[in-house]
Amino acid sequence: MDFFPFTNGELHAEGVPLETIASEVGTPVYVYSQGALTSFFRGWYDAFQGVPHRICYSVKANSSLAVLGLFRSLGSAFDVVSGGELERVLRAGGKAGDVVFSGVGKTDAEINQALDAGILMFNVESEEELERLSEIAAGKGVRAPISVRVNPDVDPQTHPYISTGLKTSKFGIAIARAREVYQRAGALPGIEVRGLDAHIGSQLTSTTPFRDAFQKVGELLEQLRADGHTIRHLDLGGGLGITYKNEVPPTPADYAREVLSVVGHLGVELLFEPGRSLVGNAGVMLTRVLFRKETEAKRFVIVDAGMNDLIRPSLYGAYQEIHAVKQRDDVDARPADVVGPICESGDFLAKDRPVPDVGRGELLAVMSAGAYGFVMASNYNTRPRPPEVMVDGTTWRVVRPRETLDDLVRGEVV
Ligand code: LLP
Repeated sequence: MDFFPFTNGELHAEGVPLETIASEVGTPVYVYSQGALTSFFRGWYDAFQGVPHRICYSVKANSSLAVLGLFRSLGSAFDVVSGGELERVLRAGGKAGDVVFSGVGKTDAEINQALDAGILMFNVESEEELERLSEIAAGKGVRAPISVRVNPDVDPQTHPYISTGLKTSKFGIAIARAREVYQRAGALPGIEVRGLDAHIGSQLTSTTPFRDAFQKVGELLEQLRADGHTIRHLDLGGGLGITYKNEVPPTPADYAREVLSVVGHLGVELLFEPGRSLVGNAGVMLTRVLFRKETEAKRFVIVDAGMNDLIRPSLYGAYQEIHAVKQRDDVDARPADVVGPICESGDFLAKDRPVPDVGRGELLAVMSAGAYGFVMASNYNTRPRPPEVMVDGTTWRVVRPRETLDDLVRGEVV
């Protein structure tokens, strides 16, 4: 089903014209489809029907309370990478017992917070972290439940900034050292070994790297059991890609078939940490054309959203589709850069893209903006971050208001 259809020549989110939202709350603005979020979550959940599993939504992709609350109501667990994200999950009604905590740089304060909350598992990313975790937990008279995040050294064939399972990356513990590390973990007073974890990268569009990594991880799991460890959870991370342009990523069902053929016999609860594939194509960012400018060398469409609002094109050279909300035929489309107001040449939403002759005030929609959009927004150039809107059928509500200039200077002194 298309959750962002052109209906009567106008782009909608479900049954709501995007122009209505933009006129009422202003631009830029992020708009999410509740129907899309629900359908993407069910796609994942149903793919593993009949197998003990938990979908731990990766909060970093979109951490708005409305999104977390919706996933919670659908039966989601959560993957967090900071004390802040853990707090968001709890405020959205999530249970600490459904939270896994990943990340290479957990602070003492975050470890304490997560232990006190009673999370399901820490995904440990270094030997020093393991020692520190044990010290803190033992000091409280408890044991910290852990998985070791292993780095299987597999090339996920994605953008270098989002490849995490290569041996040159900062993430996880080399798979070759894993047995020693588990042995140490088993001997530490403040540690309880519960599982095994890997995450190899993001925006993967083929199942091959997953298969290679999970094969290695499955073999390790059997060795660990033979070494006497109890491994009840196998966390396979996130990383399933989405269609931004013309990629054809595996569906969750394709992915599940592949996963189960490799690790289905291990008799563990499977955990997954999808982020992008649950939210990416459930959101758009709306922006209006401010000015047009044409030089000898270039045509620019200057819009009111910049790299501070949506950084993926600038940071990764990412491609995100841009549509004029009022549908037009593309016969007059000519190459243009769609750029924002930020004082950086790297501030663009699209480069050399065929863009129709859109005029001042015209509304554009940047598609596939539900993941790593708002969460990566900043206040650079003292720009308030955009509001977020949730659409459900023909109704919609603001789930986070636009920041104000007062919000931006709160607590500062001259
Ligand atoms: N689990 C771990 C341990 C991760 O590091 C990540 C993403 C995920 C799960 C979720 O991966 P997903 O299913 O969303 O691919 N800002 C970048 C993406 C960074 C991904 C970081 N880690 C982007 O905009 O493409």
